[in-house]
Amino acid sequence: MKVTEKQIKDAAEIIRNGGLVAFPTETVYGLGANALDAKAVAGIFATKERPSFDPLIVHICKTEDIKRLSLEEDPRVHTLAQHFWPGPLTIVVPKSNIVPDIVTSGLPSVGLRMPANEIALKLIETAGCPVAAPSANKFGKLSPTTAEHVRKQLPELECILDGGNTVVGVESTVITLESDGFRILRHGAVTAEDLAKIIPQSKMPETTILAAAAPGMMKSHYSPEKPVYIIGEHSIPTDKSNAGLLSFGFSANDAYKKVEFLSMSQNLQEAAVNLFGALHRLEESDVDFIVSETVPENGIGIAIMDRLRKAAYRFQDGDL
Ligand code: TXA
Ligand code: MG
Repeated sequence: MKVTEKQIKDAAEIIRNGGLVAFPTETVYGLGANALDAKAVAGIFATKERPSFDPLIVHICKTEDIKRLSLEEDPRVHTLAQHFWPGPLTIVVPKSNIVPDIVTSGLPSVGLRMPANEIALKLIETAGCPVAAPSANKFGKLSPTTAEHVRKQLPELECILDGGNTVVGVESTVITLESDGFRILRHGAVTAEDLAKIIPQSKMPETTILAAAAPGMMKSHYSPEKPVYIIGEHSIPTDKSNAGLLSFGFSANDAYKKVEFLSMSQNLQEAAVNLFGALHRLEESDVDFIVSETVPENGIGIAIMDRLRKAAYRFQDGDL
């Protein structure tokens, strides 16, 4: 752990006093505030320039907190928590009255997650309160997988706990539970297959959910400042001499100005870890646009393609 006990203690103090702290999780860096303090949570929305209709995930460090944050006990929540927590799974449950409306954007439900990161868990434990935290980036922009990425987008932040590179690389899987099983609201490292092994499911859900029931499901999101084109899905400018390639090792690279390899060995986990870092580097480089190869849509590859399509969407929609 690069972060000292003292830094965590100071960060926890900031959270207790209604302030904001950026901290690492296993997925991406989060921008945290006391989830039970509506005013502190308002600070998250202001700093991120996030619309108030986009609900936040509440991070906890012990499963007992499920009880006080949710309204009714669904035994499946505990089964899921046992199997996947700490880890990259957010479970949306009916919320209790102690969760301020601003956290959930007025929804009667709240997303709960216990992150698999020592610094995050220690911070939540020391703060002594659940921590509401979206990804620590400006709304709609690239998610941060290093403390440097957070600094780039949110330079005004006083406290950023630097835990190095995140180890999963894409945001948590978000699910809701329905009478006949789970529904995936956002794809992540925990896949539908993983979930179906643990809780009864009458039929496997669609792998790609397009209905916009939650803002993270919006078609445009996770966007770099430059146009993104996906090979095989968009028509790509023929002159690549000013373009960057996001490569999974499939196409010839010579035509491009800059190439970022997601994984030389075509390993999807590695590609997920490298995805946002590679996009951040291409965003900062002197290329004019970004071309991306596709990755196989299985396992975490589903989440990677979801993020890539959202990164590309606004540029394909004529909205530059
Ligand atoms: O891995 C992650 O989940 C990271 C780290 C920091 O934990 N957090 C993150 O938060 O990605 P954010 O705010 O960028 O994305 C949260 C997603 C959004 O798509 C939001 O719409 C959805 O979770 N969400 C949160 N609460 C919800 C609710 N009550 N109902 C439906 N969707 C919800
Ligand atoms: Mg986000």
